Amino acid sequence: MPNKILETNSTVPVKKGTGDKPTINKDEMKNAPLHKFFVSALKDIYYAENAILEALEKMQEAATTEELKDAFEDHHLQTQKHVKRLEKVFQLVDEKPEKKECKAIKGIIQEGEEVIKATEDGSATRDVALIIAAQKVEHYEIATYGGLAQLAITMGHDKAADLLERTLQEEEDTDSHLTDIAETSINFDAEQED
Ligand SMILES: [Fe+2]
Repeated sequence: MPNKILETNSTVPVKKGTGDKPTINKDEMKNAPLHKFFVSALKDIYYAENAILEALEKMQEAATTEELKDAFEDHHLQTQKHVKRLEKVFQLVDEKPEKKECKAIKGIIQEGEEVIKATEDGSATRDVALIIAAQKVEHYEIATYGGLAQLAITMGHDKAADLLERTLQEEEDTDSHLTDIAETSINFDAEQED
């Protein structure tokens, strides 16, 4: 069934921590394996968000309908906010924002470029393909932000968790908006094309 919202662990409401963690010093925190993993995952999604900014511009240009062009434009503005929020999260856990190449998002974006080449300019089929490509990006981000928000709570970084959850919510909203666009018209228009 295309374009249905998938239920993943990341959409389950995030559990709040107990809040009774013993305080540890900064060096201990920075050397903990889970902290190192968390920071490495932050660098990965920081790279991904920046790559998505570029990809969204190309997708907006390639889209056929104004509705989809507008959706990509809105998400581009939102993605700029996501980059800023991640910079704040790095700061909250006492780390510097850095990018680490994310092979997964590079592959998903490359697939998006391929569907642009494989579909006709100005067609509804182009938009169908772009929506699915964009939803693959959203699902990657939803999985990442869902996991990171939960980890931030576990490690007692409540402010960072709030920021990650806000972005998670916006990614989920974007995903369902794309489903709406596909199901109200674009899928049907594409079905009529020769
Ligand atoms: Fe994002």
